[in-house]
Amino acid sequence: MQIQENISLKLYNTFGIDAMSHYFATFTNEDELEELLSSDPRLKTLILGGGSNILLTNHFDGLVLKNEMKGIHEVHEDNEYVYVKAGAGENWHQFVLHCINRNWGGVENLSLIPGNVGASPMQNIGAYGVELNDVFFSLEAYHVHEKKILTFSRNDCEFGYRESIFKRMYKDQFVILNVTYQLRKHPIFNTSYGAIEQELERMGVEELSIKTISDAVINIRSSKLPNPSEIGNAGSFFKNPEISNEQFSMLNVQFPTIVGYPLPNGNVKLAAGWLIENCGPEAGISWKGYRVGDAGCHSRQALVMVNYGNATGEDIFKLSDRIKVSVKENFSVDLEREVNVI
Ligand code: FAD
Ligand code: EPU
Repeated sequence: MQIQENISLKLYNTFGIDAMSHYFATFTNEDELEELLSSDPRLKTLILGGGSNILLTNHFDGLVLKNEMKGIHEVHEDNEYVYVKAGAGENWHQFVLHCINRNWGGVENLSLIPGNVGASPMQNIGAYGVELNDVFFSLEAYHVHEKKILTFSRNDCEFGYRESIFKRMYKDQFVILNVTYQLRKHPIFNTSYGAIEQELERMGVEELSIKTISDAVINIRSSKLPNPSEIGNAGSFFKNPEISNEQFSMLNVQFPTIVGYPLPNGNVKLAAGWLIENCGPEAGISWKGYRVGDAGCHSRQALVMVNYGNATGEDIFKLSDRIKVSVKENFSVDLEREVNVI
């Protein structure tokens, strides 16, 4: 355990933003974390996982602490479930594969989401009809001021769409150390979302399993989303906005192709990618595929902002602001950023 000075974070964030951190260290257990946090209590800190959901808009004048707490253990089982505890520093997709190999069901639809286990409840990650919330059992987190470890149940986390208590009320107060997931010993297949069925058919799958669902999800994701090792990005930059059914009906009259999904509460969730694709910097030009220097809006998925090489976080943030204003002007809808702006 060593504190390094003036480190570039370029390799530690999937946007590939070349911001510097004044101090940088990794930790593999609670004792190291405690020691690092007490090295200079006045320093501001940033807990980092895989860096796949942050936008660094400036140099970080504090201490970046990269969580490398590892380990995957079965802690309990009953007739239906197995309870599996994973260290926050485990790679998420490797954890998914670990579960698939043992036929533990629940996380297969969340295959190939970049990042680490620790951020999964923080963000309440979701894809293809499943949210982390659906398989979450508990987590342990270290309170940075009170210097003690607390256990959080599903209710305590106050999960919402890409939301949890750790992004709101407890922002910057806890370091998530490990997460326990409740996985099915007899998996229930969830193929109803989006293009999964179609992809399974294209693949010629005859016998459904969590492995084939995972493979289908991987194929769909790879065809749409840019690979951060080729083009810097952090997945969806904005959330899909929720509006009332009345507002949706009015928009639908004016824009018959607008995409929205009814929610159980009567509201409608709009596809932000459609909104962004269907307006632009000037008449007849779409934001989709638009580029200013090295900052851009992806050409195959308008919800994804990209760094073609040397964009700064500020370049990307400024372009995202223009998109936000444009969506508001054209559709009277507010977009909220999903990415954590640092
Ligand atoms: P980081 O970016 O390192 O951190 C994110 C936030 O969590 C930061 O505020 C950080 O301080 C905090 N944090 C991280 N670890 C801890 C910890 N241990 N304790 C306390 N706070 C912590 N997300 C989805 O939900 N669904 C998708 O389908 C999806 N697809 C994506 C596709 C691509 C190509 C990319 C690049 C991203 C995608 N994402 C998706 C976003 C991202 O993968 C998730 O948000 C992921 O959970 C972030 O994990 P991370 O470890 O990289 O977090
Ligand atoms: N669309 C367009 N143009 C675009 C992109 C999308 O019109 O450029 C419309 C299409 O009608 C498309 C619909 O939007 O059918 C939905 O697009 P997609 O299936 O690609 O999903 P999304 O709503 O853009 C969400 C999540 C993703 C998650 C996928 C699959 C959010 C903010 N994003 O994207 O999560 O992987 O669904 O479940 O909820 C992430 O959080 O980083 C992320 C990638």
